[in-house]
Amino acid sequence: MKEIGNTGAELVGIIGAGTMGRGIAQIAATAGHPVLLVDLDQGVLDAAHSSLERILNRQVEKGRMSKEAVGGILGRISYDTGMNGLREAGLVIEAVVENSSVKENIFSALEGVVSKQCWLATNTSSLSVTALAASCKHPERFLGLHFFNPAPLMPLVEVVPALQSQDELASSAFELMSAWGKKPAMAGDSPGFIVNRVARPFYGEAIRIMEEGVADHVTIDWAMTALGGFRMGPFTLMDLIGNDVNYAVTESVWAAFHHDPRYRPSFSQKRNVDAGYLGRKSGRGWYDYSDGAVQLKPREDKDLGQDILWRILVMLINEAADALFWGVADAEGIDRAMQGGVNYPQGLLAWADKVGIDRCIKKLDEMYALYGEDRYRCSPMLRKMAQQRGTFRPDLAAV
Ligand SMILES: NC(=O)c1ccc[n+]([C@@H]2O[C@H](COP(=O)([O-])OP(=O)(O)OC[C@H]3O[C@@H](n4cnc5c(N)ncnc54)[C@H](O)[C@@H]3O)[C@@H](O)[C@H]2O)c1
Repeated sequence: MKEIGNTGAELVGIIGAGTMGRGIAQIAATAGHPVLLVDLDQGVLDAAHSSLERILNRQVEKGRMSKEAVGGILGRISYDTGMNGLREAGLVIEAVVENSSVKENIFSALEGVVSKQCWLATNTSSLSVTALAASCKHPERFLGLHFFNPAPLMPLVEVVPALQSQDELASSAFELMSAWGKKPAMAGDSPGFIVNRVARPFYGEAIRIMEEGVADHVTIDWAMTALGGFRMGPFTLMDLIGNDVNYAVTESVWAAFHHDPRYRPSFSQKRNVDAGYLGRKSGRGWYDYSDGAVQLKPREDKDLGQDILWRILVMLINEAADALFWGVADAEGIDRAMQGGVNYPQGLLAWADKVGIDRCIKKLDEMYALYGEDRYRCSPMLRKMAQQRGTFRPDLAAV
């Protein structure tokens, strides 16, 4: 396998110049690589070009970057509607629509252009990296590099080896992402990788609390931000992501887990999607964004707020512990992923150590007894850790 990333001199190809592709192009060019950004649609390429110019020139205006540095980055990015310019590429990252047959067609076309040594990566959020690798003639050079939106700002990249990946590929890619200024986390090729799996209860349990009539969405958002320290409440975040996108991710994780009830999507969110209440982009979601809309006030009751926070937090901790149990990542990687990919105020496993693993188990068992639903089953990892009187993050205690 050819070395890439040491000198910054190797060409990086990005397929798809939408939201993610253009951000990844900016990162690679900032790290010193010549970049070729490919999209079928010339209009999208033009839009990517002007958006990158706008974003980077703003950095000059704010005094964060020099004019020369920005000129260098913009000068290293070329744009094309075809892939022929990728012959010399050392790495190609695919960031087109989340559709396996579209992606497979791209990789088979790419393999006709690039050398056998060129690494091929997918930015897929929900498809199996192993299944995509299987569509390649040389799956040993294939892996997942899952960036988070907005890619230039979010530190996390999940590095996901396929079953067929050559042994050292993932660790070399991990080093490359670190050299690009990212904080990568190694993740197993299982549904949702780390973040999109562990984060499900942030949305699902919040909706469930609202559906049960315990509190309205504004109060739940208040509890999670004011008391929990989360940067955004679940409903505000769903409106920002788009209820259609968030619902589709939940549905795909649920289906990939063979409909495990733990990940079951909610009827309320589906109804929002059906009504076109997609969030900020449609002017209405859980909140109303139209001019003059009445802003609802949260019920700032501390006891209620703590109950809400505790219920959602315990569900998140359970999911993080379960991801550890199934070997999706190590404890430090899971915590870093949730902080670097979705801005959680603390790592969930470190949080479990702080609040007490026994308390988490007690809350989960209470909910399981009350509802009788598998959704609330406690991860064996929490029970194991409690039995051993251990902690998830002894590395932090030592500091
Ligand atoms: N948007 C996010 O928040 C996010 C976050 C992480 C990962 N992802 C993943 O990244 C990928 C891209 O998502 P996005 O939000 O940037 O999508 P997008 O719709 O913004 O962009 C996709 C681009 O791919 C182009 N395209 C489609 N078919 C093509 C082809 N055959 N050749 C070249 N270009 C083609 C389209 O013209 C479009 O510009 C998806 O797999 C998605 O799951 C998205």
